[in-house]
Amino acid sequence: MSDEELLVAARDAIERSYAPYSEYYVGAALETSDGTVFTGCNIENANYSNSVHAEELAISKAVEAGHRSFDRIAVSSDRRDGVTPCGMCRQSLSEFCEDDLLVICDGADQMTVYTLGELLPNTISGAHLE
Ligand code: THU
Ligand code: ZN
Repeated sequence: MSDEELLVAARDAIERSYAPYSEYYVGAALETSDGTVFTGCNIENANYSNSVHAEELAISKAVEAGHRSFDRIAVSSDRRDGVTPCGMCRQSLSEFCEDDLLVICDGADQMTVYTLGELLPNTISGAHLE
């Protein structure tokens, strides 16, 4: 699957976003190292704090299905504004992904590809807790 195709899967997940409060609709598509793709969308709650981020949902679905090795994630918002995973989602990705995970972000005219290491250098990991 190309980067563009993974981004199309993230855009498709936006259609299932539930974001009546922020009206900011996000989709994510996470590719495992065996090529399986898990999507997620943001799901908000009236208490605000229970809101689920698109990336969190994609990671949770993948891990629950038995996957712990990932190569790429694509993220898009309905505004095509180049949104990147927030700090919390970067940390959640780092639990299962190496610094070389590709993070594909959807801008109006072009995608931007980062590595997780660029977006979240020097983070805490399980190794610190040994
Ligand atoms: N959002 C995500 O789904 N992923 C991110 O990493 C950035 C923020 C969602 C959360 C909330 O529903 C909306 O975007 C506005 O912050
Ligand atoms: Zn987030």
